[in-house]
Amino acid sequence: MRSHDRDLASAFDDQADRFERAPVQTDPAALAKLVAAADLPPDSLVLDAGCGPGLVAEALLSAGHRIVGVDLSHEMIDRARRRCDRFGDRATFLLGSIHDPQVGAFAPFDASVSRYVLHHIQDPVLFVARQATLLRPGGILVLSDHTTDPDPEARSWHMRVERLRDRTHTSNATPGELADLLTSVGLESVRMMEETFTLDFDEWFDRGSPQATKEAVRGLLLGGPLAHGFRPRQQADGKILIECWRATARGIKTGR
Ligand SMILES: C[S@@+](CC[C@H](N)C(=O)[O-])C[C@H]1O[C@@H](n2cnc3c(N)ncnc32)[C@H](O)[C@@H]1O
Repeated sequence: MRSHDRDLASAFDDQADRFERAPVQTDPAALAKLVAAADLPPDSLVLDAGCGPGLVAEALLSAGHRIVGVDLSHEMIDRARRRCDRFGDRATFLLGSIHDPQVGAFAPFDASVSRYVLHHIQDPVLFVARQATLLRPGGILVLSDHTTDPDPEARSWHMRVERLRDRTHTSNATPGELADLLTSVGLESVRMMEETFTLDFDEWFDRGSPQATKEAVRGLLLGGPLAHGFRPRQQADGKILIECWRATARGIKTGR
């Protein structure tokens, strides 16, 4: 396993329990919006790339699709298997990377979906290209992630905060870059949906894999520029909420 993948596996083994219960990840309205934005044909065979504890897989299975979920973290895969057990052989979960040959054995897929994975990836084009390769012609690729500000100063501050709170964080894309990633691997008819969500700073920090103290990250967060996609607001009681943006981009593999 590559060293970044080893770091990811270990970080997500440690945070799997808190991640599975986190308000942003479990929000049923957000999951319903993701399923609607994916807009998949009935009974699609879907690759859930970086499936985590199976929250997205469960939403897609409940909508009538079949799932092959893959994740580097065994704690995440164990949780996904337990969560989706009731769907029987409509759900399969594999421990490993999306680049492993075992994933290819299930191809071609009707669709591939990843949520909140891209900002942990070192080579986003490779990550998206791998999924595109595994699709049938006409297959659908859905990328959903927390986005950042195109302004270099705001973006660089946002990335510093994220990386200090989570050592496996690589980089957030802007909404436009999410769409461009799909186009760069040959997908067409790209659609984009953007929505807000709110992080509670304490809840968010406490389930991270930090490389700085909470006080240091709080200070950097409150002292930063205003950024689209990552805007802290301190409440009267001292609690900090962060107003964020998430984008979901969807493209189709033309087969040309
Ligand atoms: C933030 S979690 C998101 C989990 C899930 N998609 C969700 O939204 O609930 C990111 C997950 O991606 C997994 N991951 C990152 N890179 C991966 C790769 N190359 N192959 C498989 N899983 C990967 C990590 O192990 C982690 O569990």
